[in-house]
Amino acid sequence: MRKGLFIVLEGPDRSGKSTQAGLLKAWLEERGREVVVTREPGGTRLSEQIREILLDPASRIEPMTELFLYETSRIKHTLEKILPALKAGKVIICDRYTLSTTAYQGYGRGLDLKTVETLNRIATLNLKPHLTLVLDIPDRIFAQREHLRAGRDRMERQSDLFRRRVNRAYKLLARKPGVTRVDAGRPIEAIQADIRARVAKLLRK
Ligand code: TMP
Repeated sequence: MRKGLFIVLEGPDRSGKSTQAGLLKAWLEERGREVVVTREPGGTRLSEQIREILLDPASRIEPMTELFLYETSRIKHTLEKILPALKAGKVIICDRYTLSTTAYQGYGRGLDLKTVETLNRIATLNLKPHLTLVLDIPDRIFAQREHLRAGRDRMERQSDLFRRRVNRAYKLLARKPGVTRVDAGRPIEAIQADIRARVAKLLRK
């Protein structure tokens, strides 16, 4: 059986992750791979229910409660969906994973980064993605996209300062070992070509 692969797409809101995930899925399927596209928070019934609570603008959630809710959604998702798919030799493309918690709850909310790291480790059962791609949006495009916050869920309604902190955090985190930065300030096809080149390398291993 083929080796399962766990690929994570990361980046600030509206960085184009889901578009890129769909294109990557099609490409991998053409290559005969079975692909599961999933997302965090979400991916299982319980995790999607937690997502609703987290994104409901009417929810009043303190930062530490928020952290635990994201992690609870993650444990269930990892146990019920990601690990079984990996075992079955599938490719999992996940829209956000632990790096989001570091960026949003760690840098964005200002929670202790060690605490976030510890909870990330627990919630993933120590599972590490084979590849984490950060879609990095140049500042000028980030500013232009600000007015596009049409959906305005609870996270999208956070202050501009919060959003800038998250964006800066991603720029920092994109330089971490094991993380690959992709310049997301280009046409969709160019971004996808970069992503495919990275994934192709992984498939050859
Ligand atoms: P999405 O809209 O990209 O699916 O993500 C939902 C929101 O949740 C998005 O604003 C990022 C945020 N988020 C966190 O704050 N912490 C996390 O750990 C994850 C996975 C997402």
